[in-house]
Amino acid sequence: MGIRSISTQPFSDQKPGTSGLRKKVSVFQEPRYLENFVQSIFDSIAAPQGATLVLGGDGRYYNREAIQIILKMAAANGFGKVLVGRGGILSTPAASCVIRKYQTFGGIILSASHNPGGPDGDFGIKYNSSNGGPATETVTEAIFAKSKAIQAYRMLDAGDVPLDALGESTLGDMTVQVIDPVTDYAELMQSLFDFSAIHNLLAGGFRIKFDAMHAVNGPYAKEILEHRLGAPAGSVINGLPLPDFGGGHPDPNLTYAHELVEIMYGTDAPDFGAASDGDGDRNMILGQRFFVTPSDSLALLAANATLVPGYKNGLAGIARSMPTSAAADRVAQALNIPCYETPTGWKFFGNLMDAGKVTLCGEESFGTGSNHVREKDGLWAVLFWLNILAARRHPVESIVREHWTRFGRNFYSRYDYEGLPTEAAQGVMQHLKDSFATLTGAQFGKYAVKLCDDFSYTDPVDGSVSNGQGVRIIFTDGSRIIFRLSGTGTEGATLRIYLEAFEADTARHQLDAQVALAELIQIALQISELKQRTGRNQPTVIT
Ligand code: G1P
Ligand code: ZN
Repeated sequence: MGIRSISTQPFSDQKPGTSGLRKKVSVFQEPRYLENFVQSIFDSIAAPQGATLVLGGDGRYYNREAIQIILKMAAANGFGKVLVGRGGILSTPAASCVIRKYQTFGGIILSASHNPGGPDGDFGIKYNSSNGGPATETVTEAIFAKSKAIQAYRMLDAGDVPLDALGESTLGDMTVQVIDPVTDYAELMQSLFDFSAIHNLLAGGFRIKFDAMHAVNGPYAKEILEHRLGAPAGSVINGLPLPDFGGGHPDPNLTYAHELVEIMYGTDAPDFGAASDGDGDRNMILGQRFFVTPSDSLALLAANATLVPGYKNGLAGIARSMPTSAAADRVAQALNIPCYETPTGWKFFGNLMDAGKVTLCGEESFGTGSNHVREKDGLWAVLFWLNILAARRHPVESIVREHWTRFGRNFYSRYDYEGLPTEAAQGVMQHLKDSFATLTGAQFGKYAVKLCDDFSYTDPVDGSVSNGQGVRIIFTDGSRIIFRLSGTGTEGATLRIYLEAFEADTARHQLDAQVALAELIQIALQISELKQRTGRNQPTVIT
C-alpha cells in the first residue's frame, strides 16, 4: 500500500462559515473538493507524527464515502490512530466528548447540522481541536488560506475499512478503532445528572416525548431516555437515523418539528416534549401546550443549576451569543457571576470555557451547553430540564412563568428570510450601516435609538478581534433589533432579524410574543427597507 501525492488545483470557495464548511452534497462530490479541504486542515493543524484523531458524522447522505476518504488521507498524513464511531456515526456533542475523554489531538466532524440531507441536500465538515471544540477563527482562517494555495493532497492506496463492527483494523501504519458512538457520551451524562431522580419522575407517570427527527440522536435518546432512565418505549419518536432524515428538515423548532408540536399541543399532551437536530447539538423544549424560547431556557438552566449534581457548586459564569436575549444576563446579575456576549457560533465559547470563565453557554438558535464538552448539546439540555423537573415537580409552564415573575420577561423572536438574492441581502445590511448616523437618537413611537453599531468582539482570553458580527440597533429601554446574514446557508443569502423587548410588568407576561414585539417588527422593516429591497413580504421562518 503506497502513499500517493496527488496534484490538485485550489477551489476558491472553501471558507469555513459559522460552523465549518457547508455546501451542497453535489459540491462535495466533485472530484478533489473534499480532499482539498481535508488536506488544508491537515496542513494547518501541524499534528505530530502518530497523533490520534476522532472521526464521525451525523450519518447524512455521503457520510460513509467521506469517512473512507478521510481515513485514507489521515493514514497518508502520518496519523497513528483514528477513533471512528460505528458506521461512521458520532453526534457532534459525542465527538467532542470522545476528543476530550481520550485526549486526542483533535477531530473531524461531518455534518451540516440542521440543514436538510440526501443527494440534493447539504453536507459539511469541520475540524475540532484538542479541547473538543470547533477550531478557533485563527485556525479556520489558516485552513481557508491553505485551501486557496493547495497544490497536492496525500492519500493512501487502500481498500475501504470495515466500520460496522467494534474493534481495530489497520490502514497502512495507522490503526482504525471503531468505537460505540453512544457509550462514552451516555456515561458522561450519567456523571452530571441525577439519573435516579429522573427515573423516579418517569416511573411516577410523568410522560415525555423526544423527537429525534430521524437524525443522529435517535440511538442516544433511546439508550439514555428509554433504557437507562426507564421512559416507556415509544417515548422517542422518529428514532431511526436516515441519510435524508426521512425527507424532513432536521431543525428542532416550531415549524420543522411539527409532529412533536402537534402532540404537545394536542389533547392528552405529555408533560414534557423535546427535539434535537441533524447532528444532535440543538434542542427545543416544550411543556404541555407551551414553548420555551431557547434564550429563556438558557436563563432558566442557569437559575436552577444548583439543583443538578454536576453543577451543584454553582456556575463560574454564563456566555451567550450577541443576538441571544439578555434573559441570561439578568440571572448572572442575580447570581453575581459574569455574563459574556460573544459573536454568533459556538467556536467563540471555547476559550471562555477553557479559561474557566464560564460554565453555561447558549444561543437563541436552539443551542445550549456547558463546559462538560465544547459543543452545544441537545440531549444534555433535555436531561438538565428533566433533572430540574424531577427536583421541582412543577409543570414546565409554571417553572417558566415563575422565572419571569422573578426576573422579568425578555420577549423574543427571530425572523428568517431565507434564499434571498445575495446582492439584495447585502444591500439591506449596507443600507443599515449607512443609516447609523441618522438612526442614532431617532424616535420611533415609544422607542428611542440609543446606539447602533456593527458588533465587534475582542476575545478576553487571546485578544483576537472579530469584526462585522451583526448590526445592532439598541433602544434606550434595552430593547434591541439585530440584523445578521447567516453563515451556514448554502443557497443565496439568509437574513436574520432578531427582536427583543424587556417587560418587567407581570400582568403583561401573558402577551403573545408576536403581539408584544409588533411595534419593533414594524420599526425593523421600516429602517431596513427590507420589503422594497428584497421583494419579500413575509419571513420564511419565525422562531
Ligand atoms: C446558525 C445559528 C447560530 C449557530 C449556527 C450553527 O448560524 O444562527 O447561532 O451557532 O447556526 O448551529 P447562522 O446561520 O446564523 O450563521
Ligand atoms: Zn447542529
